[in-house]
Amino acid sequence: MNLESILFTQGFGSRRQCRALIADGRVSVGGTVRTDADADFSIDDSAFGFSVDGVAWPYRERAYLLLNKPAGYECSREPQHHLSVFSLLPPQFAERGVQCVGRLDQDTTGLLLLSDDGKFVHLFTSPKRKVRKVYVATTRHPVDDAQLAALRDGVLLHGEPKPIAAVEAEARGDRQLALTVMEGKYHQVKRMIAAAGNRCEALHRERIGGLALPAALAPGAWQWLDETDLGSLRSG
Ligand code: URA
Repeated sequence: MNLESILFTQGFGSRRQCRALIADGRVSVGGTVRTDADADFSIDDSAFGFSVDGVAWPYRERAYLLLNKPAGYECSREPQHHLSVFSLLPPQFAERGVQCVGRLDQDTTGLLLLSDDGKFVHLFTSPKRKVRKVYVATTRHPVDDAQLAALRDGVLLHGEPKPIAAVEAEARGDRQLALTVMEGKYHQVKRMIAAAGNRCEALHRERIGGLALPAALAPGAWQWLDETDLGSLRSG
């Protein structure tokens, strides 16, 4: 693939902008500045990478990302009242069509997946596909056995035809509980906790499928998902 196409597919702007980046000597491959937009490279090797303005980029046919979402960010490219999660990512990702895989509320923190692979996004957001998601909620009132039993047995949410049950519900402390759910309904966890007689004051997603939010990833930081991560995601 030629260098212009490599930059273009990776979200570095229009073809004209990519050619200009290359002509201006801002792109290097293997440590060497390349000013020929038509220079050809084999991108079959998964180790292939390039640098733009000294920042290294791997070549990825599809982008699979994980973000440790902080509170105060909306999962939208056009946020209404808060900042966009896309402001935490290099602009190349929005440019190449990366979108959130499901949404977290603006005040919810933790594991958010993003991708430009439409099939992947659909697979992990389709209501038909049951994927376990683990949330940790901080509650206003102490968590008790009756609330946990109600969450496990199923609670009726406004507008839903039948009760929704947590796959697992356990106390993590006096005012903390971990809830595993399969669905991804609007404000689901907060509404379930309210229906069980408590109130959710803070919510954090720590796992999707078999993939946990890496403990070392700071709030607001992101990372690529590798094959092992994608395998874990599917295995849960
Ligand atoms: N459930 C909620 O209530 N909010 C979220 O952000 C995610 C799940």
